[in-house]
Amino acid sequence: MRVLGIETSCDETGVALYDTDRGLLSDALYSQVAMHADFGGVVPELASRDHVRKLLPLIDTVLCEAGLTRSELDGIAYTAGPGLVGALMVGASTAHGMARALGIPVLGVHHMEGHLLAPMLEETPPEFPFVALLVSGGHTQLIKVEGIGQYTLLGESVDDAAGEAFDKVAKMLSLPYPGGPSVSKLAESGTEGRFRFPRPMTDRPGLDFSFSGLKTHTLTTLKTLESNGTLDEQARADVAWAFEDAVVDTLAIKCRRALKETGYTRLVVAGGVSANRRLRRYLSDVMTKQSAHVFYPDLRFCTDNGAMIALAGALRMKAGEHDHATMFTTPRWPL
Ligand code: KG4
Ligand code: ZN
Repeated sequence: MRVLGIETSCDETGVALYDTDRGLLSDALYSQVAMHADFGGVVPELASRDHVRKLLPLIDTVLCEAGLTRSELDGIAYTAGPGLVGALMVGASTAHGMARALGIPVLGVHHMEGHLLAPMLEETPPEFPFVALLVSGGHTQLIKVEGIGQYTLLGESVDDAAGEAFDKVAKMLSLPYPGGPSVSKLAESGTEGRFRFPRPMTDRPGLDFSFSGLKTHTLTTLKTLESNGTLDEQARADVAWAFEDAVVDTLAIKCRRALKETGYTRLVVAGGVSANRRLRRYLSDVMTKQSAHVFYPDLRFCTDNGAMIALAGALRMKAGEHDHATMFTTPRWPL
């Protein structure tokens, strides 16, 4: 089955073609990051308008790269939520319009399911069951995954998502949007161990997270350094190092705990923050030590992309699922 996947939930227009026999055929991405950077975050109305401009040309690009015509598609999958409602509507209405014209099925996919399944695009995909750590700008969740659609939430952030904390700390450090990569880059020149930040909620049982206090701790540290007149470039890098260290260690502690509780030996890490090199290195080390395997998407499929939506849609459509007459979008949607 050849499925066109469309992702427009936030500030990336992602399109891809996935074949259930041959795997990923082509993918294309247009990032609006440069446009939103001037505003320090995503401006929803600008995002929707840019998706309108870019989506159809990107669909033509992926079809052309795969040497296919629209009439050779067997289905269309789009991100139905969660996300910015105007941005989601662009993908949903395009998918439904095209599917109606071509007489093929169409399916709205959960954005986080796309992230969760993204490591299955790799050459050695994880087998079920596994524990998934979903870490993005809007979510930090641990999920027990027994199969497609068989998801049990084990724990999640009670306040900020890990990516959101990275983005807010970037603002405190006057670093450009999006914050994750820029905090991480600054942290590379940080001094190991000059500051030690708290590992929130690790001293009590359970698999929930909280990153809001860590963010406040970072702000307080920066303010103290500033009032002492010692907030130089090195101090900023040392703070970024300590913040990243605390996030990575906290996530690792909870992943270990989730594997222990479920008895599983496979961990999938996905979502924008899974692009963090230090997190990838550290979790790989920790998991090797406890004879578990960790699976990540390729770096280009960690952040939002069309390939993960094409894949998730193709797997569900192959099992017979599709939308009925009306398109649907939903800004909030539990997995
Ligand atoms: O999955 P994603 O592209 O969009 C959402 O669904 O939210 O994730 C975006 C988030 C942002 O908060 C961004 O700062 C973070 O992922 N991120 C990173 C890195 N790359 C992206 N955080 C830490 N380190 C990175 N290298
Ligand atoms: Zn995402």
